[in-house]
This record gives sequence, C-alpha cells and structure tokens, in this order.
Amino acid sequence: MMNPRVTSLNRSSTLKITALTKKLKKEGKDVVNFAAGEPDFDTPDFIKQGAKEAIDSGFTKYTPSTGILDLKQSLAEKLNNENSLSVGPGNIIVTTGAKYSLFVAIFGLLSPGDEVILPAPFWVSYPEMIKLAGATVKKLSTTKENDFKILPDDLKAAITSKTKLLILNYPANPTGATYSREELEAIWEIVKGKDIFVLSDEIYEKLLYDGQTHVSFASLAGADKQTLTVNGFSKSSAMTGWRLGYLVGPQDFISEVTKIVDHTTSCACSVSQKAALAALKDKKWQTDMVKEFELRRNLLFGGLTECDKITPVKPKGAFYMFCDITETGLSSFDFCSQLLNKELVSCIPADGFGAEGFVRMSFATSTESIQKGIDRIKKFVSEL
Ligand SMILES: Cc1ncc(COP(=O)(O)O)c(C=O)c1O
Repeated sequence: MMNPRVTSLNRSSTLKITALTKKLKKEGKDVVNFAAGEPDFDTPDFIKQGAKEAIDSGFTKYTPSTGILDLKQSLAEKLNNENSLSVGPGNIIVTTGAKYSLFVAIFGLLSPGDEVILPAPFWVSYPEMIKLAGATVKKLSTTKENDFKILPDDLKAAITSKTKLLILNYPANPTGATYSREELEAIWEIVKGKDIFVLSDEIYEKLLYDGQTHVSFASLAGADKQTLTVNGFSKSSAMTGWRLGYLVGPQDFISEVTKIVDHTTSCACSVSQKAALAALKDKKWQTDMVKEFELRRNLLFGGLTECDKITPVKPKGAFYMFCDITETGLSSFDFCSQLLNKELVSCIPADGFGAEGFVRMSFATSTESIQKGIDRIKKFVSEL
C-alpha cells in the first residue's frame, strides 16, 4: 500500500511537453527550445577549477550536515553585504539544491491541517511539497494587470487561524515578477507578529533587469525572526547539475531542521560545496550573463508583441516570458502541443503553474534561436 500523500502528488506538468521535445530532437528535428528551466551557459571554468582542486586533494568525504564552515562563512558574508541580513554560519544550512532547502523548510514548519498561502501563478513544486507535509494549499490568485503581484487586501483576506506560512518567490518563476521594498513592507505589515512564517525563495535574485535592485524579505526591520530565505547556485552561477542551495533562518529553527538533513541526505556534495565557494569569489561573469539575458528578453518581448493573439508580459527578472494566449481560443496545453507539433517550438503550458490561458517561454537560449522561434510562432498564430 502506497502512502496516499505520495500517490496524490502530480507529476510535473511540463513532462509531457519536454518528453515530446526530446523525442522530436532525437529524430533530428530542429526544435526551438523555449522550455528550458536552466541557463544555457556552461558552468564557468573558475568554478569547475574549484571542484577539480577538491577532487584532486581528496575532498571527497562526508562534510558536516549543514555544510563546510568556509562556505557558510562566505555565504554569511554575501548575505550581510549583498542582502543586508545579519547572519552567521549558524543561520545557514547548505543543501542538495535550493529545492531541498524548500523541502526542509516546508517539512520543518508544517503539520497536517496547516494552511499555506501560495500566490499564483506559482512554481510547480511548491504545492506538491506542501501536500507531502500534509498541509493545505490556499491559492492566492494574482493578475496580469497587477504584474502578478499579491495585493495587501487579498493577502489579509486569505489569512485564517490555520495559516502557518506565506510563500514568496521573486523574481518569480514563471512570471518574472518582482517586488519593490515598499510592496514587501506592505506584506510584512500584514504578517508581522502573527504566528506565520514567510518562505522567501530568492533563487533568481541576481537575474534582474532595467537596473533594479533586489530586496531580501528578511532584511525588512524585524522580519528575520519570521522569515526563511532560500537561495542557491543553479540559476545565478549556471550550476543546476551541481545541486547546491542554501536555507537561511533563525538559529533555533536551523538547528532543529538540521536533523532532517542528518537523517536524509547527510550533507550536500563535498565537491559541489568547493565549487560553490569558488563561485562566490567572482561576480564579473555573472554580470555578463545577466546583460546577455536582458538583451534576449528584449528581443523575445519585442518579437512577441508583434504576434497577433499573444500578449507577453515583460518580465522584470528571471529568464521566463509569461504570455497570455487566451485570444487564440486554445487551452495552454493545446497551444503548446500544437505549436511543437506544427512549428517545432517548445514552450511550457501554465496550467501546472495555476494559470490556465498562459504559457511560459524561456529565453535561456541563443538570440538566433529566439529569432527563429518568434518567426515560427508568428506563422503558427496566423494560421489558427
Ligand atoms: C522558483 C524556483 N525555486 C527553486 C528552484 C530549485 O532550484 P535548484 O536547482 O537549486 O534545486 C527552481 C528551479 O527551477 C525554481 O524555479
């Protein structure tokens, strides 16, 4: 007999489209891939060098479960300097990807019956993790007109005596939305002093455009006591396969949830931890990557605004363009599968993100591919 919490989980809605994309590619078809959830850049050499040195020096054993001290010290320095948090190594657990930080936070905090306010559109894994913990998802819808950001009054109305957690993800996957300091302060005013934690997933913090700056939720006055911050190296350092993320929070919470890591993964990969340490030392490469993403965003946005029946929402961050396709009369899934079958352009239906009528297009691909994709989408839509 299977655990019903497991059998009730949804497979990732992106899987059908990505499986079809792979099949077409294998058949030698020239597929334009707007489905990717990771930077197309290779991990830079200076980061690989950190890993090579770790391997050559035999740094290949278990590490402390919360991560090696020099990495946690460097992370604390980064969090203090770049995010205005007052933290030390005792506030940090290094984990197997940011995903596992989210899991540890959610599992550490929630009990059956607890409610979690989840702004929609949302990244697909949050509801499934919440269900695994036996808690209940309270979807808080946002609109294109409000740039997919939650409104204070809607948040107030969603809170009940069972609310234990509010999840924020900014810049957001899948919309690229982000929050200003004032907007975050308005949210903080509502949850401040209540028995509610904020889980702030800031994994796309470095991928911001138009000269914006990122404000960490935990840096707002007094918010650190009620905030768990998640971040990692997958997106900002093109390290998705290295599986390195981190969870930051109050020391007593971190010390309790360390037991989850102790008895599950034991620790993050020792070699990846040394690679992450190297990644923190050089930010020039990251700045160049972000500039390139901004050029690509502008190219894709410009092209899609010329397409009939598609309304792209210009993202402020991350590398996804969220597009309203309701005027085509197709469901999100039908739009994506027909576009892939007819024109060999792969993108992700947003029904799995809690936003039917939208699709997500990733611009983590070359400018040539983006141009080719735009031309094909224009043709597809004109023939509908
Ligand atoms: C919003 C968000 N959070 C967390 C993650 C997980 O990152 P990681 O690869 O570090 O597990 C992703 C990956 O797609 C993401 O989009």
